[in-house]
Formats: sequence, structure tokens, C-alpha cells
Amino acid sequence: MNKEFKRTLVTSALPYANGPVHIGHLAGVYVPADIYVRYLRLKGKDVLFIGGSDEHGVPITIRAKKEGVTPQDVVDKFHFLIKESFEKFGIAFDIYSRTSSEIHKQTASDFFLKLYEKGEFIEQTSEQYYDEEANMFLADRYIMGECPHCGNPNAYGDQCEVCGTSLSPTDLINPKSTLSGKAPILKETKHWYLPLDKHEAWLRQWILEDHKEWKNNVYGQCKSWLDMGLQPRAVSRDLDWGVPIPLQGAEGKVLYVWFDAPIGYISNTKELLPDDWEKWWKSEDTKLLHFIGKDNIVFHCIVFPAMLKADGSYILPENVPANEFLNLEGDKISTSRNWAVWLHEYLEDFPGQQDVLRYVLTANAPETKDNDFTWKDFQARNNNELVAILGNFINRALVLTKNYFDNKVPALHELTDYDKQTLDEFSSVKQTLENYLETFRFRDALKEAMNLARIGNKYLADTEPWKVIKTDRERTETILNIALQITANLAIAFEPFLPFSTEKIRQFINTENLNWEQLGNTDLLPVGHQLNEASLLFAKIEDETIQKQIQKLLDTKKANELKESKAKPQKENINFDDFTKVDIRVGTVLECIKVPKADKLLQFLIDDGMKKRTIISGIAQWYKPEDLVGKQVCFIANLEPRKLRGVMSEGMILSAENADGSLSVIQPSAPVEPGSQVV
Ligand code: 2FM
Ligand code: ZN
Repeated sequence: MNKEFKRTLVTSALPYANGPVHIGHLAGVYVPADIYVRYLRLKGKDVLFIGGSDEHGVPITIRAKKEGVTPQDVVDKFHFLIKESFEKFGIAFDIYSRTSSEIHKQTASDFFLKLYEKGEFIEQTSEQYYDEEANMFLADRYIMGECPHCGNPNAYGDQCEVCGTSLSPTDLINPKSTLSGKAPILKETKHWYLPLDKHEAWLRQWILEDHKEWKNNVYGQCKSWLDMGLQPRAVSRDLDWGVPIPLQGAEGKVLYVWFDAPIGYISNTKELLPDDWEKWWKSEDTKLLHFIGKDNIVFHCIVFPAMLKADGSYILPENVPANEFLNLEGDKISTSRNWAVWLHEYLEDFPGQQDVLRYVLTANAPETKDNDFTWKDFQARNNNELVAILGNFINRALVLTKNYFDNKVPALHELTDYDKQTLDEFSSVKQTLENYLETFRFRDALKEAMNLARIGNKYLADTEPWKVIKTDRERTETILNIALQITANLAIAFEPFLPFSTEKIRQFINTENLNWEQLGNTDLLPVGHQLNEASLLFAKIEDETIQKQIQKLLDTKKANELKESKAKPQKENINFDDFTKVDIRVGTVLECIKVPKADKLLQFLIDDGMKKRTIISGIAQWYKPEDLVGKQVCFIANLEPRKLRGVMSEGMILSAENADGSLSVIQPSAPVEPGSQVV
């Protein structure tokens, strides 16, 4: 359908305010949305970009309980951290608000009430788990028990994290409330359901017939949901954190977070434009687009449209350009396992280099399939593309103009065939870029923009103005005029992708008012136009910097492995005789030295009460040898001696392993005779 629209309303998924945001968020949702919005603004289109935090839901209440604070404390902390990260990355929202705001609560509450009054819900009573001690119904995540599939004793009521099976709380064997540790009882509770089955027919037509142009991954997911048959979905929960259900007798019940969160797009628009918001949401000439990640597809393509349709006064999204997931160094990004590159940490480690990350995440965006972010690729794309092509070209064009022509745009004289061919290549760029951008193919669009810089780079390399200047000043003028026109074009073409760098380029070329329609023009900078002092746009990233980031991830991996090994059930029981086989003694350290060429090993000479005994121990990373001399340690005295690095080790010194993998030597709490047995 090729409809003409007067304005575009762009929403981007509201991230949960229960943790900071990472590169996966940026690559999947916020950078693509921002590119699109910046492109439309540059075209002078009427566009609104709505963002905000999703501040309800069970994970927030769990985090609050764990930390001994209120859910409001949790969301306050993360809302502002997230908002700041987005600002610093140049995500140019018109508003970034939150679902704990009063205006949102009112809007979501009214939305529910209208549907309720129109008879759009069905009411159903069902049995759900209830904790009699905590006096509350238990959300799925508050129930743990044995997984019926793999026997994991710590499966959650919604999922077993060991075998990955989706569960329902009543599937669990021996369920326990995580609040009181007691077995919950089943108790009747009433909820309101949106009967999606009643919406299935029009949804099928609207998505499967009228929106065949949606991205394959989105269309495919919708089709499989629809083919499975839609079921009524509860829009309320028994919980004390969220938007209260505005009905009598519904005390202790709130809107399900996935009912209230998308209404957040509407309330945030209302907050921004109290008198004018309706034209953005209720007028057929508004194009509504939702930028989201793939885990949100069903809510934005099926549930939210059904809610909007049930209300009857809203438009439906024209497209939902969802992305797949970004992995990190081969593993799924995970907040709970700290397997992520956090935006606030990137900003500290790479100050002023936001565009580098924006570039890499777009060049490698998970548009059609999951993709992997690696630090090596990040470095290579910075050094080989941003520095070597884009930065290098612009720097050469500007420095040569400064050196030869006093920083003024030189005149254009007779053009060679090669000049004409180069300028010709510009004429098609605008259309190609537009086609990609309009169809949400941002990787291809970025490649096309980079191609422009490649053309420029090649032009300078081929025409060699630094040689020509020695013999032909006029020709040099022409070459640099063309190079500067290319530079101005790059400032336009890259603006949606690299807003910080293009701002700098505009400053260098002393031109603020460039717009999209000028892209492809080869007379953007008039002859004689004064340029400003330039500086380097991008800097090479050294191996050492990248190695630090890789090491950070390796440390995380190690800490996770340790945590997971601790989470494993304790070893099998042994009988007392087995225990007495191990002879643990206390000894006094007489000497301690580093083992040459072995970073981790210390060599001890220990007074064991009878003789001096040599033991090798892998604790060199955590102790200076001299600090251990004179101390008492515990060791296994009857461990079969074995040779380590050519030295016979007669036993093993006992240490406790901390969560970060560091070791602490076990010592008696008061001095004892060397050779004393540990019993
Ligand atoms: O997946 C998420 O992070 C959700 N908080 C997204 C909500 S999008 C919208 F509905 F608000
Ligand atoms: Zn399982």
C-alpha cells in the first residue's frame, strides 16, 4: 500500500528500568529508530520520536525485594541512568518519559476502563498459587520447584533455566514460594482477558494480506502466532506494583505490564503535546511505526493493535521494523550474567567515541538474523573504515585546502572525464540511500554512504593534488573544489548515522544549513567560501585498548563459571571413614618464593612438626611470598607427592575460592603447634 502520510510517529520499545542499557538495546532498537528519525528530520518531515522507561512488571519488584528498597527506588535509579546513556549516544527523542508518571497511570487506567465499559474484555476466575504467609498471589517468577522435564530443583514458575522449557507454575514438582519458602496453596482469583481469538480474523487480513511488505522475520513470526490460533490473554495481575485496575472489588490487582507499557507511547505523547497529541494517534494521515526487538513482536503486531482496535479511535501501526538479537563474542547478551557491553561503561572507556559504536552497531546490525559483536571487529571497522576511509579523506581534503588555498574553497575549472565520472556517481546516491532508509535497510544505507567516502578517497589518491600543485595550480583548484563538494555531501549522507562527526564536519566546512534534498549536489560550497580549522574526526584504536575490553569479558566469564559451579548441588555424601582418610594438618611457613617462569605458583617450605616439607601452591596472583613467611597454613599431609615444574610437591595448601576466582589461604584462628591435625 502506497499511502501518503502527513506525519510520522516513531516509537521505540520502552526498556525495563531494572538495569542499565547495553549494546544489544542500541543495535536492535534505538540506533535504527534514531537513524530513521534523523533522516526524516533532515528531509524536513513532520516527525515525532517517542521513548521512555517501562517501569512496571515483576522483575522490578524482585530486584527491589532483593535490595531491600522500594520498586520506585529501583526505577528511579535506572530511569535516569538509561535516559542519560541515550542522550549521550545522541538518540534524539522528542520525549523520554516513564510509565510511573501520573499522566501514564491516568491514561492507562482510562484506556482499560473504556474497553471494560465497551464490553471488550471477558472475566474469568481461575486457581492460582497463593502464599498464605505473605498474604499474596504469587507471580510465576515468585514460585520455584523441580522441573518436570530435567529435574532441575530450582526451576521458576515460568521457565526452567537449565533445560529452557517454558513452564506454568502448576507444572512444577514441589512448588515453593520464594517469599516465604512455604508451599503455596491454590486459590481462586478473577482476571480480565482480552479475547484475542475474537480479533483473529481482521488481524489475519491486516497483517498477512495487507502488510506483506513487513520484514520477513516480523511477518513470519506473526504468521506462526496466527496459524497456531490466538487465545484470550489476561490483562490484569495480582500484584502491588503497577497501574491499579480501576474497578470496585479489584483491590490488589494491577494492569499486566504488557497492557500498560505500550499505552506508555500514548501517555508520553500526551505529556509532550497535551493539546495536540490526538492528531498523532488518531488521524489516518499519521504513519505510526514501532521500532522493537524480536521478543516484542507479538505484543506490537498482535496484542497492542487488538487493544487499539478494541478502543476504536486509534490508528494502527503501518510497520513494525523489528530486529533480531545482537550477541556478544559468540554468547547471548545477558543482564543477569553481566554478559554485555554497558553503554555507561563504554562512555567511560571510550569518551567522545559514540559515533564509532553507532557505526559498528549499524554496519553489523541484526536486521535479518542474529549477529555477533566482537571487539576485534569493532577495532577493525574503526581503524580500516572510519579512520582509513572517511576520516582520512576529509582530513586530506581540508588540510590540502588550508595549505594551498588559505582555507578558502578554490575555483572549479575545466573538468576531465574522470572528474565528470566522479561527480556522476553522486547523482544516484540520494535515491539509493532513500530506498534503503525507507525500507529500514540501515546496514545497506550505511554501506552506500561509506561508498561515497570511498569514491572521495580514491579520487584524491588518483588525482594526487599534492603532486599536481607543483606544476598546475588551476588543476589543483579543481581537484580540491570537487573534494570539498564530496565532503559537504558526506556531512549530509552520514548525518543520520554519525550525528557527532557530521556536526564536526559542518563546523569544519563552516556550513550549518545542509538538508537532505541537497544530497548529490556538487555545488554545495561556493567558490571563495571560508572554511574553519579542522581536526581529526576519528582516532586509531590500539590493540592494548581492545585487549582490556576482551580481558574484562574473560573475567566476567570466569566469575560466572565459578558462580555456576557453586550453584551446583554439593558433592555426594561420604561416610566418616572416607573423611578420616584425609590427613589435614597445620604447618608454619619457613620460606616462600615464586616459582621461576610460572606466574601462578609459589614454592613453600613448611615446618610440619616433624620435618621441613616442600609444597607448591597456585596462589601467586593473590599473595606476595614474603607476606606469608611466618604464617600458619592448613595443608593435606597425605596427598600422593607429585612433581610440579620439576619440584616435588608434598601436599596441598588449602584455600577458599571467592566469587571473582581469587583465593584466600585457610589459617587457624589462633596459633597452634606445627603438625596439629585439623579434625
Ligand atoms: O522488552 C522490553 O524491554 C519491554 N520493556 C518493552 C516494552 S515496549 C512497549 F510496549 F512499551
Ligand atoms: Zn528443566
